Amino acid sequence: MDNFTFYAPTYFVFGKDTENETGKYVKRFGGTKVLIHYGGGSVVRSGLLDRVKKSLDEENIGYVELGGVKPNPRSGLVYKGIELCRKEKVDFILAVGGGSTIDSAKAIAAGVPYDGDFWDYYQGGIVNEAVPLGTVVTISAAGSEGSPDSVITKEEGMYKRATTGEALRPKFTIMNPALTQTLPAFQTACGITDIIAHLYERYLTNTKEVECTDRMIEALLLTMIHEGPRVIENPNHYDARANIMWAGMMAHNNSCGVGRTQDWTSHNIEHELSALYDCAHGAGLAVVMPAVFTYNLSHDVMRLAQVAVRVWGCQMDFYNPERTAREGIEALRSFLTSIGMPKNFEELGAKEEDIEKLAYTCCYGDVETGETGGYVRLNQKDVENIYRLMV
Ligand code: NZQ
Ligand code: ZN
Repeated sequence: MDNFTFYAPTYFVFGKDTENETGKYVKRFGGTKVLIHYGGGSVVRSGLLDRVKKSLDEENIGYVELGGVKPNPRSGLVYKGIELCRKEKVDFILAVGGGSTIDSAKAIAAGVPYDGDFWDYYQGGIVNEAVPLGTVVTISAAGSEGSPDSVITKEEGMYKRATTGEALRPKFTIMNPALTQTLPAFQTACGITDIIAHLYERYLTNTKEVECTDRMIEALLLTMIHEGPRVIENPNHYDARANIMWAGMMAHNNSCGVGRTQDWTSHNIEHELSALYDCAHGAGLAVVMPAVFTYNLSHDVMRLAQVAVRVWGCQMDFYNPERTAREGIEALRSFLTSIGMPKNFEELGAKEEDIEKLAYTCCYGDVETGETGGYVRLNQKDVENIYRLMV
């Protein structure tokens, strides 16, 4: 296991009706004037926004609102939010919604105290200073409610890029699994897929002797395999939603990613798809993951064979471990299609003729490294080959 530091001080408030305590937690973490940030309207329709505002009123906390965050959030609204926060002297940002809303809120939080363009952070910068923020999460997926990360798409060039920094970890996160019951089945399934991807991105490591975190990841994957179909079958299954919600947070706050190298190839390759076609991140990952794992199979056959046996229940073929590893990838693929995820470019709405462009942007884009991937270093040709496996 590698050396590491781990500090994840988010205060989690989990369970039914907990959104009614939002005001109390804003106050506890020093907020006196809040920006409430939200998405395309689901929180208005469900009445959640009104409940959150009422809880702020009860604590005499003032607020301004900025809605309209789109899935795969854009830089334009971030600039607007930064301006609004400065004008209104906002000292706390409250994201009410999914990963897109939380990421947009994080970008605003980073941009307010920064003299330059907030986008600088998304080109390799680390955020050390930000307006404190809290979240009321409405979908189990991105894990942004417990992570120090934010992903934004710059409209100019449609670059989808990430930044990180401990200052971006939410001070508190309200997690009421019942809030996710209004999600369409497709979005629920996208969330399940994203959580599974966050686990695989950490499982695929070059670090030896990481049994503790391997086993944690396997436990969370098994949880998703158990609870995913239950929640697709019965969207109102509170306990299944509760288990998925906590697993989703654990999958991405890095408690099971410490002390090991991580991959993130599937995410980097997917981000080009959701930037270009505006598809859901989870749906993109469902198509990308089997292709990436198949392409990288020979790098460490035993690692993929191990997850096949321990998680997917495959029989270990000691004479031909590659067969076991491939069976595991097939089991993942059929699980994802069984919950309603796409399996190829066509179903995703992606186009074969864009492959060269996608591979170029993934490897060069605006940061010009020429490569991607933490598990196997891949160049533009490799990435092109991977996209071709998805056609
Ligand atoms: O905008 P509204 O109207 O709220 O609708 C949203 C949106 O259309 C809807 N929704 C959310 N909660 C709902 C609901 N509809 C009904 N009932 C509810 N309770 O669901 C749609 C998707 O929302 P979004 O916030 O986009 O979902 P998600 O949480 O999957 O976030 C995706 C974004 O997160 C990024 C992705 O790249 C993508 O841009 N990621 C962020 C990460 C991070 N910050 O750590 C890591 C991830 O790997 C990921 O890359
Ligand atoms: Zn993700």
